[in-house]
Amino acid sequence: MTIQLDDLHKSFGQKHVLRGFSLEVRDGETLTVLGPSGSGKSVMLKHIVGLLTPDRGQVLVDGQNVGELEMNDLYDLRRKVGYVFQLAALFDSLSVADNVGLGLHRVGGFREDQIRERVRECLHLVDLEGFEDRFPAELSGGQKKRAGLARAIATKPKYLLYDEPTTGLDPLTKAVIDQLILKMRQELGVTGLVITHDMESAYRVSDRIAMLYEGRRRFLGTPDEIRGTEDPVVRAFIEGDPQYLERRETTVEEAS
Ligand SMILES: Nc1ncnc2c1ncn2[C@@H]1O[C@H](COP(=O)(O)OP(=O)(O)OP(=O)(O)O)[C@@H](O)[C@H]1O
Ligand SMILES: [Mg+2]
Repeated sequence: MTIQLDDLHKSFGQKHVLRGFSLEVRDGETLTVLGPSGSGKSVMLKHIVGLLTPDRGQVLVDGQNVGELEMNDLYDLRRKVGYVFQLAALFDSLSVADNVGLGLHRVGGFREDQIRERVRECLHLVDLEGFEDRFPAELSGGQKKRAGLARAIATKPKYLLYDEPTTGLDPLTKAVIDQLILKMRQELGVTGLVITHDMESAYRVSDRIAMLYEGRRRFLGTPDEIRGTEDPVVRAFIEGDPQYLERRETTVEEAS
């Protein structure tokens, strides 16, 4: 049982963002998806939790077709798929404890003291114990990302989707987040799907790496395989070749 994306197509107006993207995440692995900004990585993730529905193709999570789920089943699905949003997306008016406990309140059936205990556990896992009563405005960027991660794991999900968990962080804080991603897999047995631009993080956390390019899967392999690839597009991306970015902007304009 895994996450399976099958020939996904998604357009917004004239813009054909996903053009037949397929990928299967294996049980227990951490798979990273790379791709230029605007290539549709976040769009792809949103299909997995039913925030977007595909124009064509399907997403299966544990064999269930996400695009066809009733509201109730969709809520069940979101309990088992934690989502760490691109910009932490904490509610500013809620304390850290209330942000982290949000999913548990939504699921229902927990007493207040059970929620408090679970929130404490999750904050402990991300090294934010004692931060319960702080507000998001009082947190650093790295602490916000960790609070976002604590919120995503509160319902003990089987899967975790991380949308650029290290973007905008300094190298040390990045390493801390990468360690947490590894810990989620090793200690909680979570299957992870990570979106990143950051090759260093990708090499650190991934069992396999895929690349999304022009709406399709351009590459899929181990970190060693991507290091050794001769595909010029993939090479340019992992080496951060700016000429390639210029070329890409022209193609995107031509395509849109
Ligand atoms: N709800 C939406 N309505 C219209 N267009 C959208 C919507 N969501 C995304 N797009 C467009 O789809 C394209 C892909 O967006 P997406 O957010 O998936 O990019 P990304 O690969 O995550 O980029 P980044 O690395 O910058 O986060 C962009 O051109 C974006 O403007
Ligand atoms: Mg994105």
